[in-house]
Amino acid sequence: MKKYDVAIVGASGMVGRELLDLIKIRRFPVNKIYFFNSGKNKISFIEFKNKKYECFSPQLNLLEKAKIVFFVSTEEISRKYAPILASKKIWCIDDSSEFRLDPSVPLIIPEINSELIKKSYLIAGPNCTLTPLAVSCFNIHKKFQIEEIRVATYQAVSGAGRKAIESLFEELEYYLKNKKMKSKNKFLPNPIAFNIFPQVGSFDKNGISSEEKKVELELKKIWNSPDIKISVTAVRVPTIRVHCLSAWIKTKKDWELKDIEKTFINSKGVKYLKNPKYATPLNSAKTFEVFVSRLRKTPIKNEFQVWLSGDNLYKGAALNSIQIAEKIIEENYG
Ligand SMILES: NC(=O)c1ccc[n+]([C@@H]2O[C@H](COP(=O)([O-])OP(=O)(O)OC[C@H]3O[C@@H](n4cnc5c(N)ncnc54)[C@H](OP(=O)(O)O)[C@@H]3O)[C@@H](O)[C@H]2O)c1
Repeated sequence: MKKYDVAIVGASGMVGRELLDLIKIRRFPVNKIYFFNSGKNKISFIEFKNKKYECFSPQLNLLEKAKIVFFVSTEEISRKYAPILASKKIWCIDDSSEFRLDPSVPLIIPEINSELIKKSYLIAGPNCTLTPLAVSCFNIHKKFQIEEIRVATYQAVSGAGRKAIESLFEELEYYLKNKKMKSKNKFLPNPIAFNIFPQVGSFDKNGISSEEKKVELELKKIWNSPDIKISVTAVRVPTIRVHCLSAWIKTKKDWELKDIEKTFINSKGVKYLKNPKYATPLNSAKTFEVFVSRLRKTPIKNEFQVWLSGDNLYKGAALNSIQIAEKIIEENYG
């Protein structure tokens, strides 16, 4: 089997580490592997398959050695290097938000629109919060034409990166030692231990958070459906990984609840749990599917409600990127 030279930019971060695990778990055919991070902190070596690799700060001449580059660091780094590498026919799979809404860059979830991969060497992966919704309800949309979505999210702390997770653990330790809460968190807008808050990202002049805007605009792009009405409340909760969503979905076409259930059961990448079973962050962590549970009708015509969940570090980021890379090599693109 052909093997590929691969680079991971952001290898020491939350998503970077998951990428490494998934490369092993899914036996992605790696020849040489190169690791990059900020070069600013103490993690300067990465262990992979019992070997220690030095981690470099990004440099074009080193990045150019790879055939596939996973960008899992910052928007700035993606902006600086991905377009140059892509112009040299190096596949760049970017998990940052830098190019997601750029009309020339495909925004890919392989279960939905893998046919767009061949259009560009630079490919964006979506925001981790919309992934469970996008994957699970795509076939519902195709069959019954979704016209309106209202959703409240319950987002794990790892969605905000390694430093945010470390800060959750510090807060918990501080509480256990001092029997009082810390008053501030350096990486999140509020303390997060024993807390929840309806702010993920910053607010615009209309009071909408950047995360809420991403869910709306990226979902419209991925489904190629600019007219769907989407309203979101994004909430941070003190879980470690897996984002959950409570969603109200209204369609144009009529259906029986069993048709909706059947569509979920037959959708790729979806695990449907029949009542009274449901997904939680603990029972859906590190799984490759997104989960749909608590399906029920609402009093509004053509509207149902579901509880969705998906691992933000897997399908919301690293797994989706690996699946894109797998598609590239499977189809022998470029
Ligand atoms: N976390 C999620 O659930 C999730 C989901 C979807 C998409 N994403 C996106 O994926 C990316 C990574 O997120 P994360 O949660 O893994 O963040 P993270 O835990 O904070 O890790 C960031 C990584 O980027 C590296 N980095 C920072 N500045 C850099 C620079 N100037 N040059 C090279 N590397 C640099 C860090 O290196 P050091 O170790 O040296 O600091 C670290 O390896 C972000 O763009 C994020 O928006 C994250």
